[in-house]
Amino acid sequence: MTLPNRRRFLKASLQGLAVASLGQWSAPRAGETFTPLRDLAASKGIAFGFAVDPSRIRADVAYRDVVAKQANLLVPENALKWAEVHPDPDRYVFGPVDDLVAFARDHGQRTRGHTLCWHRAMPDWLGQVGRDRAEAVLTAHIRTVVGRYRGRMMSWDVVNEAIEPNDGQGGGLRDSFWYRMLGPRYLDIAYAAAHDADPQAVLCYNDYGLEADSPWSERKRGAVLDMLRGLRRRNVPVQAIGLQSHLRLGEAQRIGPGLTRFIHAARDMGLAVYVTELDVDDSAFDGRGDRDGAVADTYKRYLDLVLGTGAVSAVLTWGVWDPDTPHRIGATPQGAFAQRPLVFGREGALKPASWVVAHCLERALRVRTFGT
Ligand code: G3I
Repeated sequence: MTLPNRRRFLKASLQGLAVASLGQWSAPRAGETFTPLRDLAASKGIAFGFAVDPSRIRADVAYRDVVAKQANLLVPENALKWAEVHPDPDRYVFGPVDDLVAFARDHGQRTRGHTLCWHRAMPDWLGQVGRDRAEAVLTAHIRTVVGRYRGRMMSWDVVNEAIEPNDGQGGGLRDSFWYRMLGPRYLDIAYAAAHDADPQAVLCYNDYGLEADSPWSERKRGAVLDMLRGLRRRNVPVQAIGLQSHLRLGEAQRIGPGLTRFIHAARDMGLAVYVTELDVDDSAFDGRGDRDGAVADTYKRYLDLVLGTGAVSAVLTWGVWDPDTPHRIGATPQGAFAQRPLVFGREGALKPASWVVAHCLERALRVRTFGT
């Protein structure tokens, strides 16, 4: 069943908003009366999916059902981070991701890996590694983890969040553990190791704070592009940029030409462009109007812009549905808690953002770049 036309779409949303505010809206669960987002996306050459918790796919029928129906690309939210996949020097934990990869295969879905080199989610033992062993430890980790899933991860976030201009280091690089151990060449080492382990995987650089039209984001976008140009000049195998896309209410109108220029520059460098961790921090909602409508509006403004470039070939939200209790998400400032940041309501209930994202996918330009 196709989506209602625009007038009926808006009417349905307004009705939904009106009723939702009365708490009476028992929206059909996603996938029952709603064109699955994976189908709308695929019709434009775009992958749509979620960051998922593999243990919840095993344990929660409703979660499993929504993931299977709505997504054709999955990423484990935490299970491939060092602290979880490599908790001790001589111990790897692959069970949860093995299960996820098998689930995805059984449901016609692809998977992507997150993340091989990051300054967070590091196990305690890594802190004992000195400069003399750092390259060997990093290379062995990447070869082991990427090698295990060779041919089964369409892409990897090899390095995550390496740019932090406020750290005052050359090129705006973050003063992180790997930077202190190996200097800027840790990036070259990481991508080379990943490429050796799986030459077919699209190797991605993933970061946040690239979205808004603000001086800070413009500075960060410039540093990321300079870093990527340097890697490409050195023939380092980086083939995609991940826009984490942790958005905030109230900044929607500040997303504009700077982001479009950035996406075009990445495309012109031959990079695939992914939206990797999309969510909307609604903690700044002021109680006036409707929270769900404001979240939906932010999704609409952002997706209309990025999908309008015809260069974004994957959109993943950082979670499947709204949390049962308010929780901190990617963009929430210290102490703030998001209430309804995602595209689906609890248990996969439809909400205005669900329809808006479907509408944006339906209107998206067909993707022209490689590396979906
Ligand atoms: O699994 C342990 C559990 O055994 C333990 O009892 C519990 C309390 O200590 O911690 C659990 O691990 C937590 C893990 O999430 C799984 O829930 C970690 O403490 C917690 O730090 C971790 O937070 C994750 C965070 O990255 C750091 O890895 C968030 O769930 C995850 O959403 C967040 O995601 C990041 C992306 O990877 C990168 N971009 C930003 C984004 C948001 O911060």
